[in-house]
Parts: sequence; C-alpha cells; structure tokens
Amino acid sequence: MTAAVENRSLEQLAIFGGERLFATPKSTSNLVPPDFARFLAYAEPLLETQDGEAEIVELMQHRFAAFHDASHCIAFSNGFWALASAIKALALPGRSEIVMPSLTYRRMADIAAWAQLKPRFCEVDAHSLAASPATVEPCLGRDTALVLGVHPIVNCCDAAGLTELARRHGLPILFDSVESVYERVAGRKVGSFGDAECFSLHASKLINGFEGGYVTTNDARLARRLAMARDLGRDATGAVAVSWGLNARLSGLHAAMALAGLDGLAAQVTKNRNIYDAYRRTLNPVGGVRLVAFETAPTSFKNILIELTAEWPLTRADTIAILNSEGALARAYYYPPLHRKKMSYAHVPADLPATDALAERFVLMPCGHFVDERDIERIAALLGFVAANAVGIAARLAAREAA
Ligand SMILES: Cc1ncc(COP(=O)(O)O)c(C=O)c1O
Repeated sequence: MTAAVENRSLEQLAIFGGERLFATPKSTSNLVPPDFARFLAYAEPLLETQDGEAEIVELMQHRFAAFHDASHCIAFSNGFWALASAIKALALPGRSEIVMPSLTYRRMADIAAWAQLKPRFCEVDAHSLAASPATVEPCLGRDTALVLGVHPIVNCCDAAGLTELARRHGLPILFDSVESVYERVAGRKVGSFGDAECFSLHASKLINGFEGGYVTTNDARLARRLAMARDLGRDATGAVAVSWGLNARLSGLHAAMALAGLDGLAAQVTKNRNIYDAYRRTLNPVGGVRLVAFETAPTSFKNILIELTAEWPLTRADTIAILNSEGALARAYYYPPLHRKKMSYAHVPADLPATDALAERFVLMPCGHFVDERDIERIAALLGFVAANAVGIAARLAAREAA
C-alpha cells in the first residue's frame, strides 16, 4: 500500500476489498534468528565427538541454570512436557486438584488433565492479569495437590507472594514462566522461585531453540527425578525409577540453537524496547487504546498488549478482523479463558466474572524480529483511521453480515 493510511477511503480498507497494508504478514511471534556462526559453533560437537549430543545439552543446562540463578536446569523436548513432568512430580499424592488461572495458555488445563489432576480455575488480578495470593487462596483446600502460578504475557505475577502462600498452606508450587524468561521479581531472577519453574524454547518465545523447554529448580532430588522421567523413567543403571517415564529429551541441535539465542539476548531486548517505544509514541494519540506498560525491571519488552477501553468504538472481534485483513496478525489475549472452553475431562466448574470481563478487552499486537518502527507507525495510523471512521465501518460490516 503506497498511500498514507490516513488518506484512505473506507473502500480501500482490505476488509472491504482494498489492498493489504502489509504484503508480508506481521505476526505476534518473536521468531528471532540467532547468530548463525555461533549456532554452528555450538552444534559442532554433534558431528565431531561421540558424546557431542550429551555435551551440548549439558552445557545448555549449565548455562540456563546460571542465567536463572537456579541450582539445576533440566532440558525437555518442549515446554509442554517440561510442565507436565513437573506437575506430575510435584503434585501431592492422594489429592486431586491443581489451582491455576483461567486467563492463560490454551493448553494448560489439558496438561493438568494428562497429569490426572482436575483444574480448579481462579480469578486474576485486574491490573496484573495474573493470579495473585488474594485470588488463589479461596481456591485452596483439602483436595489441592499443587498451585500453578503463571506469569502473564506482559509483566509478572507476584511469585514471592504466591510462594509464601503455598508454603503457609503446606502446598507445592510450580510456576509457568514461559513469558518471563528475562525478568526479576522482588529482587530475584525468575527461574529461582517456588519448587520449580517451567520455560519454553519454541521459536515464538524469547529464546528460540526451534523447539524445546526446560525446568529450573533448587531441589536436587526433584531435578534427578525429572531427568529420569524425561529419559524413559530410567536411572543411570537403566533400571526403571519413575513409572511414568517419557521420551522427552532435548536434542543437541535444539540445545545449540538455545545457547546461541541466550548469547544474543541483550541485542534482542534492545530491539524489543525500540518496538515498545514506537508503539508508545504512535498509539498515544489514538483514543480508546491503552498500551499495557512494562512495569517490571529488567524486562524483555517482548510482547505488545493493548486494551480496547470503553471509549473504543468497535467490537474487539471487528477490530481484530480489520487488522488481520491488512496483514497485521493481532489476536485476542488468551481467548476464550479456560473455564469457558469445552473440556472432556474432569474439572471444577468455575464462575469467574472478573476473568470473563477482562477476557473481552485485550489484544496482542504484531512485534518481534520482523516488525520495524515504520510498520508500527502504519498500524497506529490504521487504528486512528478506524477510530475516526468507526460509524461507517460498523455500518458496512453490519450490512455485509446481513447480506
Ligand atoms: C504460557 C505457556 N506455557 C507453556 C507453553 C508450552 O510450550 P511449548 O510450545 O514449548 O510446548 C506455552 C506455549 O506457547 C505457553 O505460552
């Protein structure tokens, strides 16, 4: 699209048949390519030595444990199995429920079900969008096997407060820290809280390992158990030591990619910060749109989240449809919330009015390696145009719907 967005007519919007603003779609994923030479250098032992695979994974575990100020890191084939294994290993035996937020990752309840636990969904705090000690405590009881704290997509949950709450109730606590790899909470590095924390190395995450995941913990016994669970449930002698053993190892190639990504983190964070600053600058004049501010320091500035406030003149679904048709692949924040999803497994029915209201308002915006400041200016101008022409746009969309 060559003409400035502001000078378009309604017909020129892609949703009404006009040319798309972005010929190459702009996604909400990170997709950061590492320094290729560095990746190859880390991967070299794979072809050079017999124990290359184990050597690289060992190095990756060592470097990631140090990065998170944790005593141990156990690498997994992805975040899903890292979480499932940690849940299974930590849940108190004889108890049936795992307490978790509903406004979170779409597979979270499925993971709990794999571990044969019933999700009990709690509310989230309206400011942080995270479960807090105040929203978790009413859900704790005699059936609670585990508390699962989850860091939201922007900023962090109160990891120290949740850990203290779990300890007070004599419960284990695990964190899903997939979205808070780089952050510090209460003066401590994320990765060193609770009984354990889980991370993903999926290509869309802050550290791109193509695929992969890992658990950090300060508990040596738990670390040994998770390593055995991941390696077919067997101990060093080959005897079965964990009955639910998986084949969930991280490959050396993925570990090499993750190591190269870790080395390049500072440059990536600088770029993310520039993206965030560009959104802040360009969205500021657009009424009805609130950019969710990063309040944690340090932070990776990885994801861009906006709230459509009461002043915003269109529905969120229509706004996302307009952005998507232009090639700006914005998407609804954690929608639907988990307690609203159809579940074929046992769960505790939940009435969560605060979550229901929050689940309608937030939108994740394009960001990451393939988005630049010019793209953001165009997205902000598009939103400004949409706001200024909302009445005409809504009428056309309604007419189309009725046709
Ligand atoms: C919050 C959260 N937890 C866990 C996962 C699972 O990680 P993986 O994709 O590596 O299995 C994801 C993946 O998107 C996630 O966003």
